[in-house]
Amino acid sequence: MRFIRRRKRLLGALLLSTAALIAGSAAARAAATQVTVNIRADQPGAVINPNVYGQFAEHLGTGIYEGVWVGEKSAIPNTNGYRNDVVDALKNLKVPVVRWPGGCFADEYHWRDGIGPREKRPVKVNTHWGGVPETNEFGTHEFMAFAEMIGAKVYISGNVGSGSVQEMADWMEYMTSDTVSTLANERRKNGRDKPWDVHYFGIGNETWGCGGNMTPEWYANLFRQYATYVKAPRGHRPTIIASGGNGDETLWAEVLTKNVKRDMDAISHHYYTLPTGKWPKKGKSIGFPESEWISTFAQTLRIDGFISRNVEVLEKNDPQGKIAFYVDEWGTWYDPEPGREPGFLWQHNTLRDALVAGLNFNVFHRHAKRVQMTNIAQMVNVLQAMILTEGPKMALTPTYHVFQMYIPFQGATHLPAEITTPEYQLDDATVPAVSVSAARDTSGKLQLALVNLDPNREAVVTTRVTGAAATQAQGRVLTAKAMDARNTVDAPEAIYPVKISAERKGSTLVIRLPPKSVSVLRLQ
Ligand code: AHR
Repeated sequence: MRFIRRRKRLLGALLLSTAALIAGSAAARAAATQVTVNIRADQPGAVINPNVYGQFAEHLGTGIYEGVWVGEKSAIPNTNGYRNDVVDALKNLKVPVVRWPGGCFADEYHWRDGIGPREKRPVKVNTHWGGVPETNEFGTHEFMAFAEMIGAKVYISGNVGSGSVQEMADWMEYMTSDTVSTLANERRKNGRDKPWDVHYFGIGNETWGCGGNMTPEWYANLFRQYATYVKAPRGHRPTIIASGGNGDETLWAEVLTKNVKRDMDAISHHYYTLPTGKWPKKGKSIGFPESEWISTFAQTLRIDGFISRNVEVLEKNDPQGKIAFYVDEWGTWYDPEPGREPGFLWQHNTLRDALVAGLNFNVFHRHAKRVQMTNIAQMVNVLQAMILTEGPKMALTPTYHVFQMYIPFQGATHLPAEITTPEYQLDDATVPAVSVSAARDTSGKLQLALVNLDPNREAVVTTRVTGAAATQAQGRVLTAKAMDARNTVDAPEAIYPVKISAERKGSTLVIRLPPKSVSVLRLQ
């Protein structure tokens, strides 16, 4: 409540400051880039699956412990151990699905460690992420209750790397059986009478790396074996996901679609945005030069080609379109933050991350037919997080705001948007100045998302709609003066979306985008 009141107080000031940003200086106006967009309402495409806005929560750093779960005895306000502030913020985000417990952690997770009385659960070592103790306080029951609290579906990642077929089969029975089997009764004894629905089940994670360092052929065989025993009561079978490739690879999609003939409903793929494109020196999360601002977007946009080439493989080997393509890990990954445990993957989240999110969504929408789920890495306190916490305090990141602004795209019908835009160039990097996406939402209204990548120039977007009438447009824009503007727990309202609207000019709508901004408008 206190948080909402403070928001209202600050809104006036923000509206003023953003109005000034939008109006821009005379120089910025003179230099404005001219963009045209034609929304093809007459050519509706695929439905954008709400799961494109999925999240990923791993046992990593303070992502689960501290970020979501503080325990019932914590001084941090909580309900049954879950932070109230974080749960409320996530409810407002309409999170469609959460992937858990990893990531790399999933392939060393043994589900039995995380059930029964908490004080009796074994303490293990989280060998992937900082070598810290894993208390197993947060296990299957805690995750399922968390997903129910925030209204999300569940995506469980099973252990192939160090777990057995039997262990995976038992976990499924424990979670989903409505019989009086010993495992189902054990679940009841542990406090859950009704079976859970496991909506999505992943057979391993990054099996080319931390999930077992396998070849695609070897994994394809293992997938067939493990998936055979992922069983659930009739009508409750989960969507089963194979662990696929990374970055520019298509080999995993190729081998899996050739070698697996049943049970595989989706293939997952991972791609992280590194400003420099190089793992040893990725780039800083704040205080970066403009050259790393533009290179971050150039790196992000590569995902369009990666998806296209994988989709080509699927179209060839699965022409009936039975197998979906999930990008179940994506987002920015920067150099470790000085003074923090490098294995916790904690990083600042700035306006640049907000633009990365908008760019990715615009790409995912274009591939809506096959890309039916994506999961940003990660939900709280890890990599490109929605939320950052420090003790009892919390800040919503610019990425959170973009996820919220894009909510109308969940379940919307994609509409092609023809764009003519100049390029934004610096040194040897070139990206389009403006990125666009359009859709008809579930209430029939047109939605338009625009990302202005140029940090120095306003963009004037002359918008037409073919196949529908639109005489006005209103929405919200996220921008700031600095490329690395961010919210912190001590200044949680430094960057926040404010109103934007279009001006009607003849048969067009003219939208003035501030430099470095993300906007979502509803046309009517
Ligand atoms: O999101 C962090 C890690 O990145 C995941 O655990 C792993 O799957 C990927 O390499």
